[in-house]
Amino acid sequence: MYKYVIEGGRPLQGIVSASGAKNAALPLLFATLLTDEDCVLTRVPDLRDIKTTFQLLEYLGKRVSYSRGRAVVRAGKKLSTAAPYELVKQMRASVLVAGPLLARFKRASVPLPGGCAIGLRPIDIHLKGFACLGAAVSTHAGNVVLEAEKLSGCRFKMGFPSVGATQNMAMCAVLTPGVTVIENIALEPENDDLYDFLRKMGARIERSGNKLTVRGVEKLRGARHAVIADRIEAGTYLIAGAATRGQVTVEDCNPEHLRAVLEKLSETGADVTETENSITVDMRDRIPKAADIKTLPYPGFPTDLQAPWMAYMTVAEGKSIIAEDIFENRFMHAPELARMGAMIAVDGKNALVEGAPELSGASVMASDLRGGAALCVAGLAACGKSEVLRVYHIERGYEKIHKKLSALGAKVRRVKY
Ligand code: UD1
Repeated sequence: MYKYVIEGGRPLQGIVSASGAKNAALPLLFATLLTDEDCVLTRVPDLRDIKTTFQLLEYLGKRVSYSRGRAVVRAGKKLSTAAPYELVKQMRASVLVAGPLLARFKRASVPLPGGCAIGLRPIDIHLKGFACLGAAVSTHAGNVVLEAEKLSGCRFKMGFPSVGATQNMAMCAVLTPGVTVIENIALEPENDDLYDFLRKMGARIERSGNKLTVRGVEKLRGARHAVIADRIEAGTYLIAGAATRGQVTVEDCNPEHLRAVLEKLSETGADVTETENSITVDMRDRIPKAADIKTLPYPGFPTDLQAPWMAYMTVAEGKSIIAEDIFENRFMHAPELARMGAMIAVDGKNALVEGAPELSGASVMASDLRGGAALCVAGLAACGKSEVLRVYHIERGYEKIHKKLSALGAKVRRVKY
């Protein structure tokens, strides 16, 4: 296994480029199951979750080649409609095979994703959506089995704007005869990226506010598409810049996608400037002020930046309340941050953080992707040496993080242990 050894207390300074968004690339890759023609995706980040997705697509019968961010997905053998537990258990997003397979073959079998480190994460909304389109849903030996004689367009209102359920139902509806209207959909930019790709494949899909209208077509074709920038990765580097009282510019990103986060960074006293495709956060010679956040569906403050924000607040002046409204049990980083001297009291969905003038380096353990990123932010801001263990969690979602941080002047080494 690998760990990061961080010599903290140095302000980050410089420019990094955002990678393609993992959370956009994953549904785009699963959407290639909707056609037998070649699909080419560019700006696909080199990450463990992406590799797992390639393996899953190959298991199902696709052929995938990948080099320098360019993934080519071609038809291989006849597609299987059953996803294997071995791969699905590694990544919850694997459930996104269900929509495309159900649409094409009227059958899909996916192992139940089970619990995971950040809460129960059920898939009931996905299943209600498929049932509305005409699928019979059953469970068999730990798998969810979806079957239909025929699917037809329907009207469906999501009980909660689930990102994954919106993607899954949209991917099924594009090949379902008739008109499907989905209301209260998730508005995350990664979902708009998926609709753009589906349109290039020939789908008839329109979003108006939080309503999606899909007119089913008989067949989809291959398409080429560049993945949008990773707003969560970009936000993490900007927060790390502010936490270390440095100046960080993230290039090749979309400031609009980070509006809620940039407003909060300004509230802490950072100087935030932007161009059409870059953002600079300047916190030099200033002490950050505490600012409360509450995670919400997009365009609210993203849950995936809650943990890095908490790490930032541990070195801010004053008290802040961090309210996690999307996932239960997403504060596993709090006790690890406490090992570095952070003062955090967790009470259900809320955490009260009292900023300390200084954190001190310590050995800490990542237990999930974004919590792991938070430990890196804290390690960079802390005085002395920190070790972040189990960085495989972090590397599921941050491309070359130790190299990008080094480019910003951080002293970070990736060491085998
Ligand atoms: C996606 C992102 C993840 C992000 C999350 C929220 C990907 C690969 N992952 O995850 O990084 O943190 O959006 O922005 O894009 N829920 C149900 N029933 C369902 C589906 C969801 O109760 O059928 C609940 C979940 O347990 C969770 C909340 O809804 O509490 C949000 O989940 P959802 O929006 O579906 O997130 P994901 O698509 O899993």
